[in-house]
Amino acid sequence: MSSDPSLDPRHGGEAAIDLHSIRTFLRQWMRDPVKMASVTPSGRQLARLMVEQLPPGCERVVEVGAGTGVFTRALLDAGIAPSKLLVVEINPDLADFLCDRFPGVAVACADARHLDTLAEEHGLLAGGKLDAVVSGLGMLSMSSSLRCDILRAAFAALGDGGRFIQFTYGPTSPVRRHERDALGLRMHRAGFAPRNLPPATVYVYQRLRSRQIASVRQPPRP
Ligand SMILES: C[S@@+](CC[C@H](N)C(=O)[O-])C[C@H]1O[C@@H](n2cnc3c(N)ncnc32)[C@H](O)[C@@H]1O
Repeated sequence: MSSDPSLDPRHGGEAAIDLHSIRTFLRQWMRDPVKMASVTPSGRQLARLMVEQLPPGCERVVEVGAGTGVFTRALLDAGIAPSKLLVVEINPDLADFLCDRFPGVAVACADARHLDTLAEEHGLLAGGKLDAVVSGLGMLSMSSSLRCDILRAAFAALGDGGRFIQFTYGPTSPVRRHERDALGLRMHRAGFAPRNLPPATVYVYQRLRSRQIASVRQPPRP
């Protein structure tokens, strides 16, 4: 349960949307609307849909673009151990907010395009590769090259069956077909959160099966 009573449902709090988060989020949106990509934090329905996409037996997770921590809260509630979770947020005010709200979780104030190096530095890859990257990034407002850099870093750190879980407010996948082809990724549309503001769709990206098989077949280096 959260150390913050305003987030604790036993105290009548709201687990995903609380006034402090909304105010903080809105203030950052006024400073940098493109990077924030949304006026309000995600809602609980979307957070639930995101964590439902974690693979079975999921342990090691990196969350990128955490904002005020709606998905962080949902990940912890879903049983991800704080020691196996790294949260990456580029905005220093939001990174401070996340440190206060989730004292047991490692928060890196950094660019998601370095998430593989960050996961390594935080010791998250010591026992194996990542099982999932949960992304709250506004991918549609990014350049194609930044989007591909972030996905490249994610799949460098993800294991074979690892999943990159992303939401979008747009009508189609925010990772374009030519980008998926270039990166060797397949995707499926996992679901829709109509009660989110704005309504959002969740997509899951994974390595193409042929790439997984190729990496298994590769002979060990001499
Ligand atoms: C749409 S908000 C989502 C916040 C939160 N996940 C939610 O759903 O409420 C996007 C967040 O990504 C962060 N962000 C944008 N570009 C980033 C980058 N390159 N690396 C890490 N975080 C980034 C923004 O500062 C912002 O907090």
